[in-house]
Amino acid sequence: MVVMNLDSTPEFPIVVLISGRGSNLQSIIDAVAAGSLPVTICAVISNRPDADGLQRARRAGIETRVLDHRGFDDRESYDTALQKLIDTCKPRLVVLAGYMRILSPAFVAHYNGRLINIHPSLLPAFQGLHTHARALESGVRKHGASVHYVTEELDGGPPFLQVEVPVLENDTEESLAARVLEQEHRMYPVAIRWIAEGRVSMDAEGHVVLDRLLLDSPVRFQADTGQGNESKGMKHVEI
Ligand code: GAR
Repeated sequence: MVVMNLDSTPEFPIVVLISGRGSNLQSIIDAVAAGSLPVTICAVISNRPDADGLQRARRAGIETRVLDHRGFDDRESYDTALQKLIDTCKPRLVVLAGYMRILSPAFVAHYNGRLINIHPSLLPAFQGLHTHARALESGVRKHGASVHYVTEELDGGPPFLQVEVPVLENDTEESLAARVLEQEHRMYPVAIRWIAEGRVSMDAEGHVVLDRLLLDSPVRFQADTGQGNESKGMKHVEI
């Protein structure tokens, strides 16, 4: 007997929010096109009309919308309009991919458990901006990126997948950023896939559940193999 898992049908609709370049959006588009990410990108929305990511979406035949924040008096009214726009798609997940605006508490509450972000650091280290420069300044030997559920606290929601990259002796902000970004592109589609397959979720208390078990620390994404391993190395997580 074939048992259909309705949580993992290819119709899992997502909306992607961007503000700029859109290289993470591209990695999501490519993974969907390659058949390795069972979601439908219903729309790409940008708060900036000149975001390069909009062209990437258009090239892929994905619906785009621009909601320019400069036309709004305050954050709350912008976020209310954004929410309305997003909800016309009835997304199962809202994906922040280089979306560089702070979100209002009402917006975050509305999408509680359905809103994720990728952040270029090993959270909780280096929340906020200029993460690569701050990592270099601080002298850490390991840096990376995290995928986390979004909560009211900026970059403070629980991370569930992280990738680590070494900081090299002669790294500049640019070289380190490039090394991290390459891994972001590999990791983000996997994180989205886990959610679309119903393997990862966030419960009412804000705890992340992976394969029906509470996750006490983020899964470490293996940069070289593209495999996810639980950080304690106790249990291999199939991807
Ligand atoms: C990425 O490095 C992403 O992690 C970061 O912005 C870049 C967007 O690049 N996001 C944040 O800093 C969010 N706080 P992209 O537009 O090419 O995907």
